Amino acid sequence: MDMVKRPRRLRGNTALRKMVRETRMDKSSLIYPMFVVEGTGIRHEIPSMPGQYHYSLDMLPEALSEVADSGVSSILLFGIPDKKDEIGSSAWAEDGIVQKALRIGKKEVPELYYITDVCMCEYTSHGHCGALCGHDVDNDETLPLLARTALSHVEAGADMVAPSDMMDGRVAAIRTILDENGHKETPIMSYAVKYASAFYGPFREAADSAPSFGDRKTYQMDYHNAKEGIKEALLDVEEGADLVMVKPALSYMDVIRRVSETVHVPVAAYSVSGEYAMIKAAAAKGWINEEAIVCESAASIYRAGADVLITYYAKELAKFMEEGRIG
Ligand code: PBG
Repeated sequence: MDMVKRPRRLRGNTALRKMVRETRMDKSSLIYPMFVVEGTGIRHEIPSMPGQYHYSLDMLPEALSEVADSGVSSILLFGIPDKKDEIGSSAWAEDGIVQKALRIGKKEVPELYYITDVCMCEYTSHGHCGALCGHDVDNDETLPLLARTALSHVEAGADMVAPSDMMDGRVAAIRTILDENGHKETPIMSYAVKYASAFYGPFREAADSAPSFGDRKTYQMDYHNAKEGIKEALLDVEEGADLVMVKPALSYMDVIRRVSETVHVPVAAYSVSGEYAMIKAAAAKGWINEEAIVCESAASIYRAGADVLITYYAKELAKFMEEGRIG
């Protein structure tokens, strides 16, 4: 055979394959989501998310130390309150669950970087992501509630806030209130391109945040659309978002690619609860090799253009990256 170009030449051994990898990733780009609940002595496994837990505040420091020891440096905190009402007022309460968790975390495990999810759905009695007007979320009435919640997180110690509600104008509202209160340096990571997705199913069970009627399609995006995702990402950057997120991840690789080629801020991808649950379930059946699938999925999300990966597999991935198995 008279062949000059032989792609297999670069696949000949491990050292060479690692040398020419096109996608590089590091554990510092991983964010681990965690759920905190009221009560004591609670470390309950979430049934549809094996290996993920609800932690009460007394159990939190140990769990946070475990995250830090695994090599993951950032967490994304979700609170599950014991009191809900129409407007979700425990979201911004001084002694709200996230606020208390932040004070404990920052004191006991200060080496972690604390990001909070800013949304109303865990806190409202109807499970929607804002204040209602009739049967729909009132966008403009919800903005001050979100802004207030973000400010209370930052005042309790949050290093970064991540609004996940998908109201129009919320990044600007949050930026304004943070700036007015002396938090000009606190970054915002917006869930900019967030789809109305069935992949959030296990999370809604975990966070007790399923809407009691209807769905989230009037505020979260239609999964047929990608250009609209660019519009959302650009708008959020204009309003002051420091990072933008695409969510879910695996079914939205094209969107991650397009957004990362368009915006000039870091792009985060959230590999959500349903993606995690599918891998766990198939692995429990012995149908797939869990570690191999986790590595391949993560690398492909970075390859699509993500700079940051939010994943329930963060602790395992930190190890795989450290070992050089991927990255
Ligand atoms: C809150 C929020 C949701 C998720 C993150 N923040 C649920 C939703 O929008 O219904 C989903 C995360 C996951 O599925 O892992 N709005």
